[in-house]
Parts: sequence; structure tokens; C-alpha cells
Amino acid sequence: MSEHLTVVDHPLVQHKLTLMRDKGTSTSEFRRLLHEITQLLAYEITRELPLTDTSIDTPMETMDSPILAGKKLALVSILRAGNGMLDGVLELVPSARVGFVGLYRDEETLQPVQYYFKAPKELGDRMVIAVDPMLATGNSSAAAIDLLKEAGATNIRFLCLLAAPEGVARMKEAHPDVQIVTASLDRELNEKGYIMPGLGDAGDRMFGTK
Ligand code: URA
Repeated sequence: MSEHLTVVDHPLVQHKLTLMRDKGTSTSEFRRLLHEITQLLAYEITRELPLTDTSIDTPMETMDSPILAGKKLALVSILRAGNGMLDGVLELVPSARVGFVGLYRDEETLQPVQYYFKAPKELGDRMVIAVDPMLATGNSSAAAIDLLKEAGATNIRFLCLLAAPEGVARMKEAHPDVQIVTASLDRELNEKGYIMPGLGDAGDRMFGTK
């Protein structure tokens, strides 16, 4: 497997991330940027999708050419902010199956509480990509991965926009087999569990709920 943590330092990713961090960026612009940046990150995280050769006829001759192999990818949104990353990946991999994990963070304990779980069948035969823009304490991310593993997933990746060192460490301890792809490893968490310098509450910023 590749590195446990991959930070995508592509200039377009970093430029769009700066715009997203800026508190003056509007809800609609934030959502559009998240969509675009997710596609760039998805390019990286799908790098190891298996291929097989298929025979096709080009206008010139017959050739064996690579095509995605095996069961369709499973994309799992960690509600609610993960939903802002779904469409970007689905545009690149339209045949992906989609699941949802509902966890909210108890603001006192910062521990995850499950309220919804629905995943595609035969998870064990698919590459599973869990999406959540913010890897903060890592508690809800690790809990979401626990649920996916209980449902049979064995080949899991985690796609986020920002990661805190605390969250990366928590994930590495709980799920060393899960590769994390992110646009930035930020400095730290604050006392309320927010990523610093971060971008605030990703859900509120993409849905305009504050
Ligand atoms: N969730 C968010 O939306 N933002 C943070 O900084 C941490 C968790």
C-alpha cells in the first residue's frame, strides 16, 4: 500500500483551498470549490483502482486497452459534510455505488454518536472511499471506518479536505491499513475540536446554516 497520509500539493488544489479557507468566500462559491477540489483529490485516491484489458476497435485497428476491473467502487459519505464531496467523485466515477454513515459529534465529549448507516452490498469486493471534508479528532472517522469494516469492507481509503495531526494519529492507530488523502495537514485542533487554521465548520459553510 502507499503512504498512510498523502497530502496533494498540486497548485490548483492549494489555490482552491486558500479560497475556501477565506471567511469572505460565499456559500455558493465554497460549495463549488469543494466540488472542484474533490475531483482533483479523487484523481489521486483512485490511483490504485484495478484495471484489466479489453479488446476494442479504434478507427485504425484492433487493440487491447485498459478498463476498470472488478466490482464498482463504493463511495461512502460521512454525513452531513461528506455530502459536499459526493458529486465531485461521482462525476469522475459515475458507476460508483453510494453509502451513508450518519454520526454526530457530541460537543461535550467530542465522541461520535451513530444515527444512520446504509452501505452498498458486497463491500468486501469493492474499493471503498469514505469522504468527509474535515479529519479533526478522528473519532467519528475511526468510528465510521469501524462500521464499514463490520459491514465487510477490507479495502478502504479516506478522502478529506483538511486533516489535523491529532486526527491522522488517531486514524493511524485505529486503522493503519486505511490510506488518507488530503489537501492539507493543518497545525492542530483547538480546545473545541476545530482544526486550526482550518476553515471553520465545513457543513455550515457549504450549506449556509450559520
Ligand atoms: N468539523 C468542521 O467542520 N470543522 C473543524 O474544524 C473540525 C470539525
